Amino acid sequence: MTFTLPDLPYAYDALEPHIDAQTMEIHHSKHHQGYVNKLNAALEGTDYAEKSIEELLQSIDILPENIRTAVKNNGGGHRNHSFFRKIMSPEKTEPSEEFKKVIAGSFGGMDAFKKTFADVAAGVFGSGWAWVIKKHDDLEIVTTPNQNNPLMNGDRAVLGIDVWEHAYYLKHQNKRPDYIESFWNLINRDQVEENFTSKF
Ligand SMILES: [Fe+2]
Repeated sequence: MTFTLPDLPYAYDALEPHIDAQTMEIHHSKHHQGYVNKLNAALEGTDYAEKSIEELLQSIDILPENIRTAVKNNGGGHRNHSFFRKIMSPEKTEPSEEFKKVIAGSFGGMDAFKKTFADVAAGVFGSGWAWVIKKHDDLEIVTTPNQNNPLMNGDRAVLGIDVWEHAYYLKHQNKRPDYIESFWNLINRDQVEENFTSKF
């Protein structure tokens, strides 16, 4: 199996003005394509080329040493960015009443959730991600460095934000909190809830 760059589910300019078209295009056609290419190069000629990306990341600690770092960085990058594209949408969606109860049970309410998530994402040192993961039937906020994915820790993400500078620097420069606030306007609530209820 060869991994391929998934098409975006919307046009490069669809998330304007929150995320600009140039950032979207570079992020997708250069950064994400780069992770896919390097992942394929690392796996070429190995039995691991037949595995799914989820299987690879879940077994990252027992992969052969000669491919482990490449799979962690580029397989993680591929999975993270595929997930990230789907978690955003130009359509305005609202959480269901049922999911609001999950948010309330885990964080005390939507406002508290938003603030905690924004604070944690803003506080990621250097390049990494902030995630909301499913723990039993509750939600928790975690971070990962670089392109690590929660699957590497046995966790499942329902929401995540890329806080590498490449995700926001052209428009927001060093103001990461502004980008996080913009991201909040783009969250595909339907996809979040699907992630909460499905296996992946
Ligand atoms: Fe990125």
